[in-house]
Amino acid sequence: MTRVFSGIKPTGHLTLGNYLGAMRPWAEVDQHRADSLFCVVDLHALTVDHDPARVRRLSRQAATLLLATGLDPQLCTVFVQSHVDEHARLSYLLECVASDGEMRRMIQYREKAARERERGGSVRLSLLTYPVLMAADILAYGTDEVPVGDDQTQHVELTRDLAVRFNQRYGHTFVVPKATHPPVAARVMNLQEPASKMGKSDDSGPGIVYLLDEPDVVRKKVMRAVTDSGREVVYDREGRPGVANLLEILAACTGGNPEILGGVYQSYGALKKDTADAVIEVLRPVRARHTELCADPVYVEGVLRDGAEKAREMARPVVDAAYRAIGLLPPVSEPTSEPVSAEAVSAEAVSVSDVVVKAAR
Ligand code: TYM
Repeated sequence: MTRVFSGIKPTGHLTLGNYLGAMRPWAEVDQHRADSLFCVVDLHALTVDHDPARVRRLSRQAATLLLATGLDPQLCTVFVQSHVDEHARLSYLLECVASDGEMRRMIQYREKAARERERGGSVRLSLLTYPVLMAADILAYGTDEVPVGDDQTQHVELTRDLAVRFNQRYGHTFVVPKATHPPVAARVMNLQEPASKMGKSDDSGPGIVYLLDEPDVVRKKVMRAVTDSGREVVYDREGRPGVANLLEILAACTGGNPEILGGVYQSYGALKKDTADAVIEVLRPVRARHTELCADPVYVEGVLRDGAEKAREMARPVVDAAYRAIGLLPPVSEPTSEPVSAEAVSAEAVSVSDVVVKAAR
């Protein structure tokens, strides 16, 4: 059976972009067709300046919202990354096959590091190594497919490169995964700045629809969305990004096609009204289920506890195999399979001492 893994970072309130680009396909498609794991990747939230209490609160909220979107613990595994040590264990090994140059080329690193520097802050080393931890998240589970929005494509490509390199150097250890994207709304744009992604960590509220926004707030945000000069409603992502974004959101919410929908509307006003109605309808059951789940924290905690246990069982053999393959001795409680000859030990001792002597000079 296909193994699917994906994650969401608790760095802000979850948005319509997260929902249409990732969470909805996970709940509606992936959990039914594959052996799926969905993770609140809390370690990733520590890569930028953070408030510990806020990370805890947002982690709980993200887990609750994952369940509110319809993830069913009978069908898939839902857990918190920091509850499973294998992610951090594997990340270090992958740092030993990754190069600093390939980390510095990551678009998200360059954008976020520039933003941190502009604010006068320092850039955490973990921001640079973040994609390696993400690769560990994916590779630890023998993942075949990673359903994500299209902003994560470069990170999944890096994951593939690291898996292939590790396998070539140390023997076949990892499945090489691939990214999958929803057919529409793989990149929902900010309603006020249609050239930028709708991101949960951004501060500009009016362009971002949050999953827990009240219906009248959603309506206001959509009705005030920036559209383009001209009056014709056509689907043109390059030339008319504001209108194209609304058409994609409407298409994703109603199961339609943005190009066909473009031909249906005579005015921006009518398009905005229908988009607002469609978004409100899509989010209504999520908000309702979220309210119910908030009243039952013991259930949510139980799901996360069981999820972490299942995830640990899946990840441990893969990560242990990687430790062996890369050359680390098994812990002493495990008998070694091969007897070690005295000659081999002394030959190794000679070559090691040579290196030490040369290095000392
Ligand atoms: P994160 O938390 O930024 O986003 C979670 C998921 O939501 C998608 N997404 C969007 N899709 C469409 N339009 C948008 N405006 C939009 N904004 C976000 C993202 O593409 C993502 O699928 N690095 C990841 C988290 C991560 C991860 C992993 C993902 C860590 N380890 C392993 C997959 C597998 C991130 O920051 O996602």
